Amino acid sequence: MLELKVEAPAKVNLHLEVLGLREDGFHELAMVMQTIDLVDELQLWPTADGAISLSCDQPELPTDGSNLIVKAAELLRMRAGLPELGARIHLRKRIPVGAGLAGGSSDAAAALVGLNALWGLGFGDAELQAMAARLGSDVPFCLPGGTQLCFGRGERLEALASPQAATLALLLIKHAGTSVSTPWAYGRCREQWGRSYLAGEEAFERRRDALRRGPLVHALRQGGNLPPLRNDLQAVVEPELPSVREGLVLLRRLPRTLAVAMSGSGPSLFALFADLNQARSAQTNLAPELEIAGFASWACGFRPRGAMLVA
Ligand code: C5P
Repeated sequence: MLELKVEAPAKVNLHLEVLGLREDGFHELAMVMQTIDLVDELQLWPTADGAISLSCDQPELPTDGSNLIVKAAELLRMRAGLPELGARIHLRKRIPVGAGLAGGSSDAAAALVGLNALWGLGFGDAELQAMAARLGSDVPFCLPGGTQLCFGRGERLEALASPQAATLALLLIKHAGTSVSTPWAYGRCREQWGRSYLAGEEAFERRRDALRRGPLVHALRQGGNLPPLRNDLQAVVEPELPSVREGLVLLRRLPRTLAVAMSGSGPSLFALFADLNQARSAQTNLAPELEIAGFASWACGFRPRGAMLVA
């Protein structure tokens, strides 16, 4: 029987700036996102029974209609006008959940790419992007992945050609007992900073342009030193979560880091290095302290692409 495999890589935020509030109630953002070599895998089989069934090697993960993979499958067959299409989907989960790494969003993007191929629907990039934006703010980025400037809710993408990204690597850590709800983090952000949010498209565009012309994008494009990374949600989450503060202290103590930051709404934290060997040796050096403090860790490279068919 025909079987397809799709890889769904995690992302980190190299920049996350909250600009203001949108009319739809979401936040207007200016971000730089980067896919990394920490990857979930989806296996897909067509079925003739019209059912979409999901299984996962992590039994605690919901596999019902609340899972973004199932929502992606249902949206895709609805848009195709073929509600009778069925699929069995198995998820090998490697990306931690509720971690600020877009694991669920990347799984949804992979489901769109994989089922579009499995069912022979022939939707193009623009149509898949539109479906992705309905599923969640990070899903559009997870389709092409790589290095992208992301504006709007996260769905307005501008690809960034970065020769640096081919060699940069990171040590990623996540405290085992901690997860962060994204709506909670944005809610706290609004409570604390809402009064100083920018308003109006003109003000937003000035900040987008400042990012496009700023030192981070320059360093990614041309090489050279990275500036300190900005994540506005870190300013919200760090004071509330002792494990985030502890993790940042551990990472900042490492020699040869290029930058240290939280990803997305957290609680994942990362330190950037010039190459994978440096990230691996930092992981080895820090392993005893990470274990005592309850952190899982990954040394991984940047990845040039998002959701991708592999077989
Ligand atoms: O789009 P997604 O489902 O990932 O968003 C989760 C929640 O995060 C939203 O319900 C909203 O509370 C918050 N959010 C936001 N602005 C964004 C993205 C997410 O306020 N641009």
